[in-house]
Amino acid sequence: MTNIKFLSLSAILVIFVIVGVTIGLAIPTSSSKLTERGADFCSPVIIAHRGASGYAPEHTLGSYALAITMGADYVEPDLVITKDGHLIARHDNSLGLTTDVASHPEFAHRHRTQTIDGIEVSDWFTEDFTLEEIKTLRTVERIPDIRPGNARMDGTFHIPTFQEIIDLVKSMQISQRRTIGIYPEIKHSSHFKKVGLPMEELVVNTFHKNGYLDSNAPVYIQSFEVNNLKELKKLTNLRLLQLLETDKSTQPADQVLLNTGLTYNNMSTPEGLAEIAKYAAAVGPDKNYIIPRKDDNSLGDATTFVRDAHAVNLKVHPYTFRAENSFLPEEYKSDDPSKHASGNLMGELQRFIEAGIDGLFIDQPDIAIRLRGPCL
Ligand SMILES: *[C@@H]1O[C@H](CO)[C@@H](O)[C@H](O)[C@H]1NC(C)=O
Repeated sequence: MTNIKFLSLSAILVIFVIVGVTIGLAIPTSSSKLTERGADFCSPVIIAHRGASGYAPEHTLGSYALAITMGADYVEPDLVITKDGHLIARHDNSLGLTTDVASHPEFAHRHRTQTIDGIEVSDWFTEDFTLEEIKTLRTVERIPDIRPGNARMDGTFHIPTFQEIIDLVKSMQISQRRTIGIYPEIKHSSHFKKVGLPMEELVVNTFHKNGYLDSNAPVYIQSFEVNNLKELKKLTNLRLLQLLETDKSTQPADQVLLNTGLTYNNMSTPEGLAEIAKYAAAVGPDKNYIIPRKDDNSLGDATTFVRDAHAVNLKVHPYTFRAENSFLPEEYKSDDPSKHASGNLMGELQRFIEAGIDGLFIDQPDIAIRLRGPCL
């Protein structure tokens, strides 16, 4: 693959965004009009998981911009931090899977092994790089065998900072003439505290500085850990979401360190949800908490999870809806045997909407938006 190809792909996305912004600027809008349709106006709320990551490499400005033009209500960046204290968007602090760091000989000596949340990882880590160094890397597709279209954009994008994402959202709100929400996840909170780079205050201060101030702001801050969310509750009135891990028998990383014995299983009972409701506005379970799969990998019956969460006023935003066969329940897969073939995601979504969810994390936001229809 030549650089010309990379350039033309990135040029198309850039033009896409610039044209959108220009059209938006040409139409006079008042700020009151902008807020007419808030990020939570439609139901279910559609959260673009790592951007439109089914169509463009995750956690890039291209992926977030695409999700916004598709009509997503929120974009969802995962946040990690650099050695010099800058928040950047990556799924993990390890860089090997989603960047070209391995092909940078000047960083070869940074490769090392450390234990993160109890798991030994050998990789390059964001906390060993300054932002300036991070900016010399380019992103690559995490799952190229399932998303070969995305892999064609390998090398096209930089790693964005949290501020660059906020700036993108704010300018695209003008072209889209609607409010676009930001839904960051604080990754590996305990780990980053341990290495002297806590993220919580930085995330809150960045939001406050950019005018996102209270529970009416189009923001949710999410975490799989517990105590950092309780800490955030004291720092801000922005809404918080408690994530619940796929494997219910596991514990939040901070609870392991504190030796409390609290598992996600405990947290998903009516009593556990009542505890979560003391600090969070919403809960983000793996979708299997809501409709578990049967032994043949087809969808079973809905649990009482949504009802239990609603009983304590928690919104329910499950993760992650994905269109490719490898992720779908058996009855919604298509017959096409190729790994990257898509099945009937709308069918699966319909079942979860019937189960009463309030929002959803999705890699192909356009599909949920088509299913939802216009919400005026
Ligand atoms: C979690 O649930 C288990 C099984 O019901 C129970 O034995 C344990 O006490 C609970 N732990 C906490 C911290 O709630």
